[in-house]
Amino acid sequence: MRKFDLEHVYESQQFDSELLDIIFTVADEMKNDLLLKKRRYSQVLKDKIMASLFYEPSTRTRFSFESAMARLGGSILTTENAKEFSSASKGETLYDSTRVMCGYADLIVMRHNKPGSAKMAAEASSVPVINAGDGSGQHPTQALLDLYTIKDSFSTINGLSIAMVGDLKYGRTVRSLSYLLTKYSNITIYFVSPSVCRMDDDIKNYLTENDIKWKDEDSLEKVLPLVDCIYMTRIQRERFPNPEDYESAAGKYIIDVEQAGMMKEKSIIMHPLPRVDEISREVDKDPRARYFQQAGNGLYIRMALLYLLLTNNPDI
Ligand code: CP
Repeated sequence: MRKFDLEHVYESQQFDSELLDIIFTVADEMKNDLLLKKRRYSQVLKDKIMASLFYEPSTRTRFSFESAMARLGGSILTTENAKEFSSASKGETLYDSTRVMCGYADLIVMRHNKPGSAKMAAEASSVPVINAGDGSGQHPTQALLDLYTIKDSFSTINGLSIAMVGDLKYGRTVRSLSYLLTKYSNITIYFVSPSVCRMDDDIKNYLTENDIKWKDEDSLEKVLPLVDCIYMTRIQRERFPNPEDYESAAGKYIIDVEQAGMMKEKSIIMHPLPRVDEISREVDKDPRARYFQQAGNGLYIRMALLYLLLTNNPDI
């Protein structure tokens, strides 16, 4: 079997179909191991240390990575808020912090506000660096767990149509997911967003070059009956340079029971979370709502990535 030959994970373009299959197979194995309490992998990383360096807030990504490392027997170095409590607050560059941290840990998981920062850190690091979100750039591990969730729901990704809804300009999850979808065939993507936060041309051009059909849409109601997957996102107040643009975009697209009623019976509703008001609480009871399961899958995907990056061994 092919070795897991990635040194770092900083963007979705690094993955090919074979690597995706390896990650999903290992994630399945980790999931079964945990659910059936077999504990075959509970000590596989017992001599390894993961540093989690988060310069921006996180609930799911940080805690699922830390949980994943603990579930594999490894140790964790962490700070509550790297922006405030690391020497970044004294002006230390990310390059210097990375050079230092790779002397203390076997792997670095990093979230930062600047697009491209994870790749820059990877270039400075002698240990694997995982991008846990770099501003409005990418969030490749989120895209992996998104794809894993879609695959779990439909068995295959080929032939599906997906609506990405909300903040597509500053949303790193939809950017990373778009790149990964090019590894599959006969995909259609609808970009449903307010005009102030449309998907950027770099992604649209990449999709076109890779034979993925895409379309901009204003109307959520129009696409609800058409697609297999609705991928909602939060309008990210913190990323908008102009508060008036944020106000014009916020609250425009909401899935409530009435909207869910327009969807196909076998379609699914996803969201990377956190949500604000994009999906009403009453929709949580709908069996097509997959966002909490999606967040749960982050644990298995991140266990698989830590295992593969630190052992390079896909044979499990
Ligand atoms: N989906 C996601 O990245 O969530 P957090 O910001 O809580 O990590």
